[in-house]
Amino acid sequence: MTRAFDTLPDPRHPDPEDAPALRWGVLAPGAIAADFTDALHKHSGQRVVAAGSRSLERATAFAAAHGVERAYGSYDQLVADPDVDVVYVASPHTQHAELALLAIAAGKHVLVEKPLAANAAEARLIADAARAAGVFAMEAMWTRYLPQTDIVRQLLDDGAFGELRVVTADFGGSAPYDPTSRLFDPALAGGALLDLGVYVVSWASFALGSPASVLATGSLAPSGVDEQAALILSTTTGAQALLSTGLKAATPSLATINGWAGRVETDSPFWSASGLRFFRADGAQAAYWIDPYQRPGREGMVYEAAALARFVMAGLTDSPLHPLDEAIGTLATIDEARRQLGAVGVGYGSTL
Ligand SMILES: NC(=O)c1ccc[n+]([C@@H]2O[C@H](COP(=O)([O-])OP(=O)(O)OC[C@H]3O[C@@H](n4cnc5c(N)ncnc54)[C@H](OP(=O)(O)O)[C@@H]3O)[C@@H](O)[C@H]2O)c1
Repeated sequence: MTRAFDTLPDPRHPDPEDAPALRWGVLAPGAIAADFTDALHKHSGQRVVAAGSRSLERATAFAAAHGVERAYGSYDQLVADPDVDVVYVASPHTQHAELALLAIAAGKHVLVEKPLAANAAEARLIADAARAAGVFAMEAMWTRYLPQTDIVRQLLDDGAFGELRVVTADFGGSAPYDPTSRLFDPALAGGALLDLGVYVVSWASFALGSPASVLATGSLAPSGVDEQAALILSTTTGAQALLSTGLKAATPSLATINGWAGRVETDSPFWSASGLRFFRADGAQAAYWIDPYQRPGREGMVYEAAALARFVMAGLTDSPLHPLDEAIGTLATIDEARRQLGAVGVGYGSTL
């Protein structure tokens, strides 16, 4: 029995301002670390109190530019700071596992930028270490913590779609080919799938769970990393996810979930605060919701930080909204897609 949805449920996210304030340390203060720090300081009581870089000069400049109290010229020094509760790992993918393990060994909780690691085997090392140490670890798949995603979660839980059959998502960006950029450098696990594709594979996992099969087709950049990919993921019940990602064309970033009783379509982009439309099976639009919260673009990263603070203060060690095992499963799907494409880069299933 499915409910009729003429209005969409309210998102259950509590205001990020109300989350208990943790003291954050940023490891590898590059572009995303800057946006993350600014989002936390603008929209919550979370405080980035320390930045750790391979260069004291860069750490000091970052701290001065983003209102951070302490700067360290090594990653070891940052994780040893007793006044840091949680470490945010913002390095290129290839350093995620190494730096997460460093923070975990120092007894810190960790938020690791997406993808959780460069491949599933490295991601498992993070999960195993965090579990053994009893600390909290989470992939920074911030889309999972947005208000709109909570509305879709309620629709899924309430059976609003009936039997799920088709899930779609695209995320392509237009990046000029540059072999020195981390996006194209095999030594930094470049490629579309790990950088942008992780969002569409995660969306499919959110709706359908783990796929039973993965079919990938696409093309490689001159450096050998995957440049464009289309994926069909199929479940044991015959539901399918049709996914697209790439580095040569900016695509609309729309996502849908479709079943016999109805469908949801996001506005663009699905991965940050936008909007949702719910349609009944006859095609009539039943409800439209536009995000009213004024945390646009990457400012929406504040939701994942607030969620992490609540989980840590509740004594959890894994995110109930996006568990480590699910992030590992997403990487297993990407490993398999990269293998089918013949992409070069950090090995599939390699360890540190
Ligand atoms: N959530 C999002 O929306 C989002 C958006 C963009 C990127 N990301 C993720 O964030 C991570 C970092 O991306 P980014 O664009 O911020 O990268 P970036 O600007 O290049 O910054 C990465 C930082 O990592 C440090 N680093 C450590 N080892 C390095 C190496 N071998 N080569 C280069 N830098 C190294 C550097 O800082 P120091 O040398 O000073 O320590 C550098 O500033 C990626 O995993 C990416 O997937 C997430």
